Amino acid sequence: MTDVRRLTYADLPHVVAIERRAFPAPWSLAMFVLELSKPQGICLAARVGDELAGYAICSRFEDVWHLMNIAVAPERRRTGVATALLATLLGERLDAEASVTLEVRPTNIPAIALYEHHGFLAAGRRKRYYQDNGEDALIMWRTPGTLRGSLDDVPNADPRAALR
Ligand code: COA
Repeated sequence: MTDVRRLTYADLPHVVAIERRAFPAPWSLAMFVLELSKPQGICLAARVGDELAGYAICSRFEDVWHLMNIAVAPERRRTGVATALLATLLGERLDAEASVTLEVRPTNIPAIALYEHHGFLAAGRRKRYYQDNGEDALIMWRTPGTLRGSLDDVPNADPRAALR
């Protein structure tokens, strides 16, 4: 059973250990500390038993929420941990009308599939966004519109750029 609660400073050593196994350019401990210190941020930890299995970091910039980071320990993947994190974030912690955006590598098929399952649509690209390999970022949004299959309420939506 996956249990989702607020992420705390005490979780951070485990978070950093998962982060280093999850990303080619992992966040530092200081970056997580900064996110946890933001009063408006939503930082969630998913546990299976006593063990940290994954986490999600979401920050607010004016009226838009940014899903800044989500990762699951490799041995816990494909068991619904990220789904539990996003269900808590989107279904309980954010308003139903909230606009949420994120960047993802176009090659990250698991993450894109996960986000599409939760109502996100690709809406553009940021050129050479990832500094480690110069890869573009796919920009995805989840809004009241995307939940109906439309990009009408997505700022600067460019679905053709998303497909390139
Ligand atoms: N291949 C294809 N689809 C996948 C997938 C994979 N390897 N992993 C997840 N998905 C999709 C599936 O649609 C899945 O539903 P299903 O299992 O019913 O088919 C859905 O996502 C939910 O899977 P879930 O088990 O909740 O995801 P997870 O706990 O394994 O976590 C990630 C998914 C992306 C967070 C995890 O793979 C991860 O930590 N990756 C490294 C970090 C990362 O890339 N984070 C995203 C940065 S933008």
